[in-house]
Amino acid sequence: DSATQKPTLTILLANPRGFCAGVDRAIKVVELAIEKYGAPVYVRHEIVHNRYVVESLEAKGAIFVDELDAVPDDVPVVFSAHGVPKSVPQEARRRSMIYVDATCPLVSKVHREVEYHFSAGRHILMIGHAGHPEVIGTMGQVEDGAMTLIETVEDAENLHPADPDNLAFATQTTLSVDDTADIVATLQRRFPNIAGPKKEDICYATTNRQDAVKAIAADADRVIVIGAPNSSNSRRLVEVSEKAGCRAILIQRAADLDWDWLSGARTIGITAGASAPEILVTELIDALKTRYDARVELRMTAEEDVIFKVPPILRDVA
Ligand code: F3S
Repeated sequence: DSATQKPTLTILLANPRGFCAGVDRAIKVVELAIEKYGAPVYVRHEIVHNRYVVESLEAKGAIFVDELDAVPDDVPVVFSAHGVPKSVPQEARRRSMIYVDATCPLVSKVHREVEYHFSAGRHILMIGHAGHPEVIGTMGQVEDGAMTLIETVEDAENLHPADPDNLAFATQTTLSVDDTADIVATLQRRFPNIAGPKKEDICYATTNRQDAVKAIAADADRVIVIGAPNSSNSRRLVEVSEKAGCRAILIQRAADLDWDWLSGARTIGITAGASAPEILVTELIDALKTRYDARVELRMTAEEDVIFKVPPILRDVA
């Protein structure tokens, strides 16, 4: 009976997608801290930008707060994967608190670069998004005024530093690779002596996920990105897809999908941000299969084998 036949659909599944090594480690840190110290364990800021992850950890005994002030002195606290300003662990030490730092090692690496440039007397330009916790954390590695935030090529064009020959730059790890290349090129043209990393500080996971979404966007009618609205790397995946010419949407999970938006599409690309668990991808594919006769095709653009060890303080329970 053709009236009950579902329309056919090809799903292009991007790979790599979803969890990166830093997110995987941060979640493990909270779980192991609960195992070691018992519930509750406080977490300053969303451990990673994903509601599903946060709620799952709350169910295990984590309590999420915005600032250290909200944590009692005698309860362990975890700092999120995005990194924290130096003042936060300082304050925790002052209060003799037990704290576990879940800052991604690739963010910590940027923190050390920034400290190095600061000690070399350079003014540092931070390429990133205003208000993002990673930017607040990285800029908080050095004293106020030692860094200037650069968000766009225009910012880079309009900058008039006091000492143009004594500059350095660092970047957020989850930026658009292409947009950042333009900003860095502008800075290097205007300030030929600027110091910095070889390219930028964008991490392997961000780069790989952007490459992977470009590959599926080329062949898809629509791209769906699973991720949180406050997740920088997830939002970049939507932009990269749209720049590659394919309409894209960011949803937290299948229930958020506007089915009309898919109308007419025969091929749909799916990916997920670095903080989005695979279970939400599976859930979306299952939802699509209820309405379509769907076939899943895997598109692999890179292999990943990065794993980060948990901090020493948790290795006895790891
Ligand atoms: Fe780290 Fe990159 Fe993930 S900086 S937390 S590996 S997105």
